[in-house]
Amino acid sequence: MNTVKLNVNGKEHELPLIEGTEGEKAIEISGLRSSTGLITSDTGYKSTGSTKSAITYLDGENGILRYRGYPIEQLAEKSTFLEVAYLLVYGNLPGKVELDDFVSKITRHTLIHEDMKKFYEGYPAKAHPMGVLASMISALSTFYPEAQKSDLDPEEVDTTIRRLIAKISTIAAWSYKKSQGFPVMYPQNRLNYCDNFLYMMFAQPTEDYEVNPVVSRALDTLLILHADHEQNCSASTVRMAGSSHASLYAAISSGVCALWGPLHGGANQQVLEMLEQIRKEGSDVKMMVERAKDKSSSFRLMGFGHRVYKNFDPRANIIKKVCDEVLEELGTDDPLLDIAKSLEEAALSDSYFVERNLYPNVDFYSGILYRAIGIPTEMFTVMFALGRLPGWIAQWKEMRDNNEPISRPRQIYVGHTKRDYVELSNRG
Ligand code: SDX
Repeated sequence: MNTVKLNVNGKEHELPLIEGTEGEKAIEISGLRSSTGLITSDTGYKSTGSTKSAITYLDGENGILRYRGYPIEQLAEKSTFLEVAYLLVYGNLPGKVELDDFVSKITRHTLIHEDMKKFYEGYPAKAHPMGVLASMISALSTFYPEAQKSDLDPEEVDTTIRRLIAKISTIAAWSYKKSQGFPVMYPQNRLNYCDNFLYMMFAQPTEDYEVNPVVSRALDTLLILHADHEQNCSASTVRMAGSSHASLYAAISSGVCALWGPLHGGANQQVLEMLEQIRKEGSDVKMMVERAKDKSSSFRLMGFGHRVYKNFDPRANIIKKVCDEVLEELGTDDPLLDIAKSLEEAALSDSYFVERNLYPNVDFYSGILYRAIGIPTEMFTVMFALGRLPGWIAQWKEMRDNNEPISRPRQIYVGHTKRDYVELSNRG
């Protein structure tokens, strides 16, 4: 066993050095406090691994992303979202029988309890769909109390997994319909996952609706690209919440809330709003780049930068290509795409961005593609959640299958030292 030596007040301690299958190394510090009385400190976990995982591999320097060993480029081109969901959750590509069984069971779980339809009456019309999604997923748990049990029954877990993947698309589409005052469209078992979602989003009871296969395939690719990303903010939140043995519904609902933040999944909506602002104000992209560099302003170039990718985000490259294809197929010429491309050019020729390895991330072009598909801006992060759900489930399942302990980080206290209570009358 390789080790590293730590000298604490003259006493030498040996700590194990562990290595992953891709040669990544880490100092195993779980025994550090008991042997030295010390803990580590790493706000934001920039140098801290929270677990050992076999689900997704990222190489930030070389722009590599693999799900269970399969390169994202191959999955995006050759696989389907539900096949990728199976791969992430169960660890291997399914055979035809397993895949057909998985898909048909998901297809038959797309309805939500009729009582849940009433919940939509209570939200304000302008309710942000991420707030609706988080509460509806948590509310699902009230209809399936058996999923609360701490000791997991594999059959029960599989059913909950299929229910979540199936029902999230209905919940999402219905929140859009309700926000427009439109009647909801019920899922159709004759349609595949993406066709069904587009049908529930855009069909009206008054006329026929034909799914555009190019749009549906683009959506399927987008969902694949968003399906997992190892220990990002929302996946870590799902693991943290699930580590208390809260139900999978509760853990996923917490992941939705974490994803909502503009520094994380909420960035795709912010990118569109930023591009719209550039177009409306007619301001040039160089001015936006300068603003993003100005430390006195909190403005950041949304869709740029990444905690892990320090070269390029492979997902951004694929989305940009699909974007061009879909816009060409639909014959739509989106001025925001041209603004995005010139913004990217301006940023990548600026030393501030180059020195800090700030490149377009998955959120930079995805909004333009969602817009081309007809998804409204405030639904963009919901689309991110739809794609990320299998990844969250896989992370939760790995954490529970490995019997990981409840997450409970330590801290360094920097508050007041001991002081005595002062009566109100003596406080001045
Ligand atoms: C996602 O973790 C994941 O895997 C996330 C994700 C996933 O699939 O789950 O990939 C999805 O969340 C993508 C990221 C979407 N967010 C954005 O696009 C928001 C804009 N980006 C940033 O806020 C930022 O880049 C982060 C949050 C993404 C990463 O932040 P880090 O790693 O904590 O880096 P940092 O904030 O320490 O920045 C380092 C430097 C700072 O400048 P200095 O202090 O060195 O002078 O880079 C600057 C930052 O000010 N910087 C930016 C910037 N991003 C970082 N400056 C301008 N514009 C930006 N976008």
